[in-house]
Amino acid sequence: MKKPSPEQIKAFEGKDVLTARQFSLEELNAIMGTAAHYEQALAEKRIIKDMEGKVMASLFYEPSTRTRLSFETAMLRLGGSVITVAESATNQISSTAKGETLHDGITVIDGYADVIVIRSPQTGAADIAAQAAKHPIINAGDGAGQHPTQALLDIYTILKAKGSAEGLKVALVGDLKFGRTVHSLVDFLALYGCDLILASPDQLKMPEDIVASLRDRGVKVEETNSLQDAVKVADVLYVTRVQRERFPDPSEYEKVKDLFIVDEELIRGCKEGMIILHPLPRVNEITVGVDKYPGALYFEQAYNGLYVRMALLALTTGSVG
Ligand code: NCD
Repeated sequence: MKKPSPEQIKAFEGKDVLTARQFSLEELNAIMGTAAHYEQALAEKRIIKDMEGKVMASLFYEPSTRTRLSFETAMLRLGGSVITVAESATNQISSTAKGETLHDGITVIDGYADVIVIRSPQTGAADIAAQAAKHPIINAGDGAGQHPTQALLDIYTILKAKGSAEGLKVALVGDLKFGRTVHSLVDFLALYGCDLILASPDQLKMPEDIVASLRDRGVKVEETNSLQDAVKVADVLYVTRVQRERFPDPSEYEKVKDLFIVDEELIRGCKEGMIILHPLPRVNEITVGVDKYPGALYFEQAYNGLYVRMALLALTTGSVG
């Protein structure tokens, strides 16, 4: 992962980050290289001023700990400043509580900030924001839609652990229906030529249009409802939480919530060197006993979010020094 060329860096300036599908393999590698550059700079305790004088608006209209704090830390570590909204936890597009549209709200915030990071319970909210804003919009999760920045840090973690992602067998397990991180991640895995095993309870299968689009691109996709079968063959086990908040009927959540649990016994049968990832927060789907397995990288994965988000903020605002 090496720092991209000035031309490759320049190509990102002013771009939004809305979906995983928007990126080419070359762009993906440029983001990875920039993230590695910032990881190295922080490891050397360098004071970075690449975004000095710039402002990031942090708009989280859905609960978030890691994503919000890692974006805000990323901006501060780049020497920039952060503005935010106090009423964000209300699950409302802030002033929409007063009847304002998202489009109008973003148009105003766009006048205060150089880059806007938005999370919303509404699928497509980041696209609406991008139409309203002149500055880059970064999608930090839109309902059950996309979560491209999480998927980028997932890839970064895989590359760091495995050296390369090419040809890996990646098992995505859990709630593939409502989990937005996997909806983004599959597109990146497709670019690297990974084989996919999609393991979920029948009620939580990956949406058919996503599976069909992967197959159209020549990706080898296997669907199963057996967690055991997936674990036996995987190089990477990517575990997800059942997304309780997206179930229209709470009793349906109760039926599926504990069907897939990764525990010590299960991973005894895994391939040597398998790594386990999870976007966090975890509920019951990975037992605490698994944390001591050397391939359990989910906390490291969360730390990697900082470097990847530094790269995205600096690249989209043309600030990489
Ligand atoms: C994910 C999300 O918000 O989609 N969390 C995160 O950003 N790390 C996954 C989840 O909430 O299950």
